[in-house]
Amino acid sequence: MSHLLICAMDSEAQGFRSMLSQRTDETVGGLLFSKGLLCGHPVIVVRCGVGKVNAALCTQTAILRYSPDAVINVGVAGGVGNGIVTHHVVIGTDTIQYDFDLTAIGEEDGLVSPCDEVLSQGLLAAARSVLPDQRLSYGRIATGDRFVGDSLTAARIRDHYGALACEMEGGAVAQVCAASGIPCGVLRAISDNANEQSEVDFPEFLASAVAETEKIIVAYFEGLL
Ligand code: ADE
Repeated sequence: MSHLLICAMDSEAQGFRSMLSQRTDETVGGLLFSKGLLCGHPVIVVRCGVGKVNAALCTQTAILRYSPDAVINVGVAGGVGNGIVTHHVVIGTDTIQYDFDLTAIGEEDGLVSPCDEVLSQGLLAAARSVLPDQRLSYGRIATGDRFVGDSLTAARIRDHYGALACEMEGGAVAQVCAASGIPCGVLRAISDNANEQSEVDFPEFLASAVAETEKIIVAYFEGLL
């Protein structure tokens, strides 16, 4: 069973690339895909770039080229849920593109795409094995083409869309996976609180948040049959 790990930034992807044994690299459509084994399991690692369009085109390219059995979008996020702060991790139950808005023609606000329950439970079990429960949440992840750095927007994403964290790719990856019937999971460690402090917090906590995701992904593959 092969997994695609898709990260937005090099800083999120490079640790996974360097963990691969028997690694081979291939560039497709300008994207560098690294194939190899992680804890003995076939894994493909790619950095898609920031934002929904980059995430969507990369996910679709990967699906057509490699036919992965499962896709995990992994990286950092802004915490918006109550008590979801740096050093916490959120695993998606589903995603919502909060900037997808057809309300003017009578549709629901936002676009929800599911996360796969079995895959997400596997990620959750792996996260439980490396993190205390108080630092771990399972809930909705909000995606939009904006780095959120104001508490009013963060509060709206929490209160109106019911999300625990906000980022810029998960909803696009999940939507593309759903279109092909491929199980998708979203794993995010909190780098900032999507507020006025984010400009300072994001660079400060990025590396430690990425390290949390790496520990969880390793535990996930170690536990995989
Ligand atoms: N990724 C990490 N922090 C974020 C934020 N505040 N907004 C959007 N994406 C993020």
